[in-house]
Amino acid sequence: DALIAKFERITGAKAHPWIKRGIFFSHRDLDLILDNHAAGKPMYLYTGRGPSSEALHLGHLIPFMFTKYLQDVFRCPLVVQMTDDEKFLWKDLQLEECHRLGFENAKDIIACGFDITRTLIFSDLDYIGHMYPNILKIQKAVTYNQVKGIFGFDDSVNIGKHAFPAVQAAPSFPSSFPHIFGSRVDVPCLIPCAIDQDPYFRMTRDVAPRLGFKKPALIHSKFFPALQGSDSKMSASDESSAIFCTDTPKQIKEKVNKYAFSGGRETVEDHRRLGGDLAVDVSYQWLTFFQHDDAELKRVGDAYASGAMLSGEIKKELIDVISPLVARHQAARALVTADMVKTFMTPRKLVVDRS
Ligand code: TYM
Repeated sequence: DALIAKFERITGAKAHPWIKRGIFFSHRDLDLILDNHAAGKPMYLYTGRGPSSEALHLGHLIPFMFTKYLQDVFRCPLVVQMTDDEKFLWKDLQLEECHRLGFENAKDIIACGFDITRTLIFSDLDYIGHMYPNILKIQKAVTYNQVKGIFGFDDSVNIGKHAFPAVQAAPSFPSSFPHIFGSRVDVPCLIPCAIDQDPYFRMTRDVAPRLGFKKPALIHSKFFPALQGSDSKMSASDESSAIFCTDTPKQIKEKVNKYAFSGGRETVEDHRRLGGDLAVDVSYQWLTFFQHDDAELKRVGDAYASGAMLSGEIKKELIDVISPLVARHQAARALVTADMVKTFMTPRKLVVDRS
């Protein structure tokens, strides 16, 4: 609570509902980022996407929507890494296909509303040369045993996977972006991501001081649950596990009604008497992410927990919230031109207000 109050005091912005609701629930050194901002100094944001599928699901959008909010709050540069190399090493995909998917996914990222004068989106395959000096320094500072320990690789894993963490670490340091920051090493980096990405940045923070670099700060979100509940994972290869940015209103309605795990009771009678279980109900959990109106969320939560609202009704509440959100995203994506993608993806000078 104290940190949230400090965030609001220093930035002059209202904390995002995802911060207040504990969806972005954890951080490393966010207080240092706030002190740096209060001192009028520059900073930058870094996040990324592993392009392994044509369409992003709603879970993937969360860090990007949140990063858009942070870019508005801090008015700072943002770099977005498309790890086409990572997906080639991990998945059964052709290298050219990963590269192409990176461009497709960039359209979804741009559709989140990032400032074109302050944002660079880059494909590792295209950009790697700029980062290579930092990648090498990181690789020299991390041992094989450390990488095995952090990522759980066994000895039969390809050597590319062992080397890759240094590639995801490198954008945490401003000298990986000489056209933006010159050779400065003192501009701090804040990384918004879901908690699954933290191991990369624990490794990064560990090596940073040894390389004479600042440790990147982080702000982590919880994992957005699959339609089937928090025990299963949303997967791009399982249509029924998630709502995708490309889904039609009809698909959204059908998927929620058919697959969203319900915290409702066996019979209507039991449900009226015992109430629904908010802790396991996926529709309610999804509403905590996407219903930004606190009063409305409380109304629905109270009604469902008391048994006044039935499972079909809370599903309808969810459908009514996410259908317009997905439609708005699709409309914004349709306006993203090839020229815009090209500009976002060209290494260039970005606007940095502070010095
Ligand atoms: P990827 O493509 O798996 O995921 C992209 C971003 O979405 C987050 N995410 C989720 N957030 C909430 N709920 C979910 N169910 C969910 N699934 C995925 C991920 O945490 C990520 O922030 N290796 C990375 C790409 C990357 C990156 C980065 C991510 C490179 N550099 C820096 C964050 C920060 C990847 O494959 O992400």
